[in-house]
Amino acid sequence: MTAWSPDSWRTKTALQLPDYPDAAALADVEAELSRRPPLVFAGEARRLRRQLANVASGQAFLLQGGDCAESFKEFSAANVRDTFRVLLQMAVVMTFAAAKPVVKVGRIAGQFAKPRSSPTETQDGVELPSYRGDSVNEMAFTPEARVPDPQRLVRAYEQSASTLNLLRALASGGYADLHNVHQWTLDFLAGSPAGERYQEYADRITEALAFMRACGVTPDAAPSLEGVDFFTSHEALHLPFEEALTRMDSTTGRWYATSAHLLWIGDRTRQPDGAHVEFARGVENPIGLKCGPSIEVDDLLRLIDALNPANEAGRIVLYARMGADKVGEHLPELVRRVEAEGRRVVWSCDPMHGNTMKTGSGYKTRDFDRILAELRGFFEIVRAEGAEPGGVHFEMTGGAVTECVGGAGHLSEADLSSRYHTHCDPRLNADQALEMAFQIADALKPAAGVRRAAE
Ligand code: TRP
Ligand code: MN
Repeated sequence: MTAWSPDSWRTKTALQLPDYPDAAALADVEAELSRRPPLVFAGEARRLRRQLANVASGQAFLLQGGDCAESFKEFSAANVRDTFRVLLQMAVVMTFAAAKPVVKVGRIAGQFAKPRSSPTETQDGVELPSYRGDSVNEMAFTPEARVPDPQRLVRAYEQSASTLNLLRALASGGYADLHNVHQWTLDFLAGSPAGERYQEYADRITEALAFMRACGVTPDAAPSLEGVDFFTSHEALHLPFEEALTRMDSTTGRWYATSAHLLWIGDRTRQPDGAHVEFARGVENPIGLKCGPSIEVDDLLRLIDALNPANEAGRIVLYARMGADKVGEHLPELVRRVEAEGRRVVWSCDPMHGNTMKTGSGYKTRDFDRILAELRGFFEIVRAEGAEPGGVHFEMTGGAVTECVGGAGHLSEADLSSRYHTHCDPRLNADQALEMAFQIADALKPAAGVRRAAE
């Protein structure tokens, strides 16, 4: 294998990168970003790798979720907190049901750049460059708005830093203390079926905590009750940005991407000889790989070997994103071969991206039942092949948006227009996300004896 450096991706073909009209302005921004502090530390990325190694061996479960695309406009402390708190609620339900630790990863604090199916977009006969996420250009359909502006990368960095600062405080400053399990309930959830079921779980956990305290397991004796490890992730799409934030770790002399703990490669940029794979192979962070229905198993094995030559558990997360109707056809062979060849990976399910459709009135949406069907298919198939269904990956938000149809709230196509806010793909709202967590909890429940004790 040839030598790697943070810029060796530049010798390869890079799909999906914006065309900046002013190369010098981009270079200035790259230089500026390379002087900024890292957002995450190498030691934290190593900690996530250790936790993911436990997921690979079936001793833990991975929960990953957040916006399809973060935006400058929707950025607020309340939005960050609400996403975080739904993830906590989901994690608590899943931890309790599975009696396994849940590794918590946000799709947040850096998820700005988007791959597009076409480089341009045409409306009423006018053709403009596609919107590529807030770190690149603006969504408004005007020629000025669509020009890629490198200064947006600085703004994305700053918003990521400020989001991460809040997340770190929420994770370790008392908010995530297990004793607060009742307080994470969002007002609008209180009366919903998922909200009610959550209250029951919260009561049981509170009771268990009181029992444990009486037995001497106080927060002093078990500090892990008082907070969570929370990790960040995004798609490693914008390579100039990622390169500028790639740093050598002083304690190990190894390279780390410091824009997030985990980076993934999208289904559109996973060419084995492409620039995105070249970049990812040289950083030590956990690396995700989106696997859509078009992936060939031989390519997948090549990719795994390029990214993880030492076959270390905790390095690779594979996200199956096939679609409810295709998962049965495509996933079994992938799992079978990867397992037969002894590759150590985390199998995670992204049940969102293969299930996107357009309504008659032009809204992009996803049906709760299709998402659930893919999730169930995934659990069944991975288990049938003798592997561990290790994780889930959702596009979701803590808000009461109306972007996906279905769920216990029976959101219909006609409801979509009321609070459709996403900058890209439709997200589960807090209610739908929590309901999904209960479904996963059911799939994760261990032996029947334990189940009875938990009910
Ligand atoms: N620290 C433990 C964990 O992350 C327990 C815990 C504390 C927890 N607060 C939590 C678990 C909130 C889920 C949600 O698993
Ligand atoms: Mn998306």
